[in-house]
Amino acid sequence: MIGYGRQHIDDHDIAAVTAALTGDMLTCGPAIEAFEAELCRISGAAHAVVVSNGTSALKLMYQAAGVGPGKRVGVPAVTFVATASQAMLLGAEVVLLDVDPQSLNLTPEILERCREHLDFVVPVHFAGRLVDLPGIAAVAARSTVGMTPRTRSGRPGAMIWRVRIGAAVMGVSAAPRRSHSIR
Ligand SMILES: Cc1ncc(COP(=O)(O)O)c(C=O)c1O
Repeated sequence: MIGYGRQHIDDHDIAAVTAALTGDMLTCGPAIEAFEAELCRISGAAHAVVVSNGTSALKLMYQAAGVGPGKRVGVPAVTFVATASQAMLLGAEVVLLDVDPQSLNLTPEILERCREHLDFVVPVHFAGRLVDLPGIAAVAARSTVGMTPRTRSGRPGAMIWRVRIGAAVMGVSAAPRRSHSIR
């Protein structure tokens, strides 16, 4: 169990930060390349791009997915503000979606009721409780809702099957892992 609101910083973390701070290159140095390579390894993604925080990652992911003016982006009503704000910054309309009262997550049933009104949906794993991604993807695949950029075949949502829980790769919440567990 990962405690909410409690940091997990050990000597290894401190040594890694110290090495980066005292190295020749403070930004874009070898630690970044190693981190990106490790993200690819654990996620199975072909490419990974590290940014400074989860908010920036969300914005990049939305831009890559085509979120912008004239698009409606469904986000859980219970989530971190950046899930919605980054879509708004890009000129999209944000639609707040109900969440299941037990899990506080978006469910396939909830998405089913509103899928025709959305261009994108952004499920978020609330406080470590996993969203039913295959179920959500199945609903998305039956409509125009895109969870991720369209694949080469043009089928929305198909790529979600390749996104592992916690993967920071064009996923449903691209926030990098930090010291607390709302993701
Ligand atoms: C679900 C979710 N998305 C995005 C963010 C934003 O991450 P950051 O604070 O690193 O910008 C957070 C931060 O808590 C979050 O919980």
